[in-house]
Amino acid sequence: VKRIGVLTSGGDAPGMNAAIRAVVRTAMKNSIECVGIRRGWAGLIAGDICPMNSGSVSRIINRGGTILYTARSDEFRTPEGQKKAANTCKLLGLDGIVAIGGDGTFRGAQDLSRFGVSVVGVPGTIDNDIVCTDYTIGFDTAANTAVECIDRLRDTMQSHERCSVVEVMGRHAGYLALYVGVAVGATAVLVPEHQYDFEKHVAEKIRAARLGGKTNFMIVVAEGAASAMDVGKEIKEHLGLDPRVTILGHIQRGGSPTAKDRVLATRMGYEAVRVLAEGMTNRVICVRDDQIVNVDIDEGLAMKKTLNAEEFEVMTVMTGV
Ligand code: F6P
Repeated sequence: VKRIGVLTSGGDAPGMNAAIRAVVRTAMKNSIECVGIRRGWAGLIAGDICPMNSGSVSRIINRGGTILYTARSDEFRTPEGQKKAANTCKLLGLDGIVAIGGDGTFRGAQDLSRFGVSVVGVPGTIDNDIVCTDYTIGFDTAANTAVECIDRLRDTMQSHERCSVVEVMGRHAGYLALYVGVAVGATAVLVPEHQYDFEKHVAEKIRAARLGGKTNFMIVVAEGAASAMDVGKEIKEHLGLDPRVTILGHIQRGGSPTAKDRVLATRMGYEAVRVLAEGMTNRVICVRDDQIVNVDIDEGLAMKKTLNAEEFEVMTVMTGV
């Protein structure tokens, strides 16, 4: 392996820069040239490249976002787009690609590998919804950001004895909402993995809290479970409270990565290059029981990830019903 490319694709996540840095520095250590591909798969189609060296990844381990920019590409979803991307790899003499991103990024990697390009995926998404890995880069930072924001909301909700409905990201998954909900001591947590029932999951929880003496309530809603606006309206209509709704949105995607995300990203970036250097292809780098491992991309994506049942049970007990 003489030359590899590195790109970030899909929604950005804090820690992606740390992963890029680890890829570049590990490649250099192994005398492998590393080319940066800007704007994800779209950039690979367009040949949007930049040289990478030790200096170009200096002082980025602490920075959120991605220095390589990111994009979601419709063209890359077509065989024509994938062919163009594969041709760029041939033209540039790339022996492999490290693709840092989420589910969509890995599906792209699968497609590209069918055109004979060696790809290794590094999971970077705040959603933590990649089936084969316990954690994805960015989840820990996003969770801590959401917790900090909700703690602030809680102060004012307590003063005014109000109900707060907070919408947390996570796309179709509830990992972020569940984790954050437990961390902030929410009154109720709504996740898409459990069919939303206003009476059971919200009204009964608020009622139990009120009967227990509470006068402020924090409802955490995963964006994939329900709209926080709708939940707020139902609370007003059925319980007569006057809730305030907050959608945390892209705040959760920015900011300096936590130590956990930096270390995870560095370990994964290192492993990605090691895997390519050993001639392996079509792999996803995962963390399982705190060990960095690599799994076949097709097998990895075919697995089914469920919410942590114990964490969900803990949340159910803590929310009082
Ligand atoms: O996948 C990361 C994520 O932040 C999801 O939680 C969210 O649903 C989506 O991306 C938002 O995408 P965009 O940045 O395109 O609005």
